[in-house]
Amino acid sequence: MTIRLGDVVPDFEAETTEGPIRFHEWLGSSWGVLFSHPKNFTPVCTTELGQVARLKPEFDRRNVKVIGLSVDPLDAHAKWSDDIAETQGYAPNFPLIADQDRKVADLYDMIHPNASDTMTVRSVFIVGPDKKLKLSLTYPASAGRNFDEILRVIDSLQLTAQHAVATPANWKDGDDVIIVPSVSDEAAKEKFPGGWKTLKPYLRLVPQPGK
Ligand code: BEZ
Repeated sequence: MTIRLGDVVPDFEAETTEGPIRFHEWLGSSWGVLFSHPKNFTPVCTTELGQVARLKPEFDRRNVKVIGLSVDPLDAHAKWSDDIAETQGYAPNFPLIADQDRKVADLYDMIHPNASDTMTVRSVFIVGPDKKLKLSLTYPASAGRNFDEILRVIDSLQLTAQHAVATPANWKDGDDVIIVPSVSDEAAKEKFPGGWKTLKPYLRLVPQPGK
């Protein structure tokens, strides 16, 4: 199933390392990151799960729940967690879905047969509190994801949701942001009383709200 930006993401029930869940109910009013990794006991995946565990407080701070998925069984997830703790210094501190029957992988189109018939690709789905898809990424098995980038883009998505601003290329937390074109100058005067810089009528920069 193709899931596009703005779609309500499919709900599902699954077994996880933290017990059975129903996805939408588990998300509650939080943002969510659902990410797949191709296979347990593999090197790149081991580093990724260690990194997500290290960054868990950063996800918490942003009101984002993280959940991993692989098509391996629950007992394999438990054994692998010990290896992750030993080699990465952080054991997974978030649920991992055991998707042996590929129910969730198929629902979210995480298996790309021309890459592999059996393993999921490295998918990332960022879901808003409205359960709608805000961003998706697809990486091949060989390229570990940059979870600092996932946090950076969550900051951008949350700024847009709260303040009607967009973020420019290579934006970092604290840099100026862009007033979205749908906000007129009149409306911008109310929203941004401190003023803004107009480089072009369609390119208006304002200090990041809340900084
Ligand atoms: C890895 O996580 O290292 C990996 C998994 C599947 C294929 C290639 C690499």
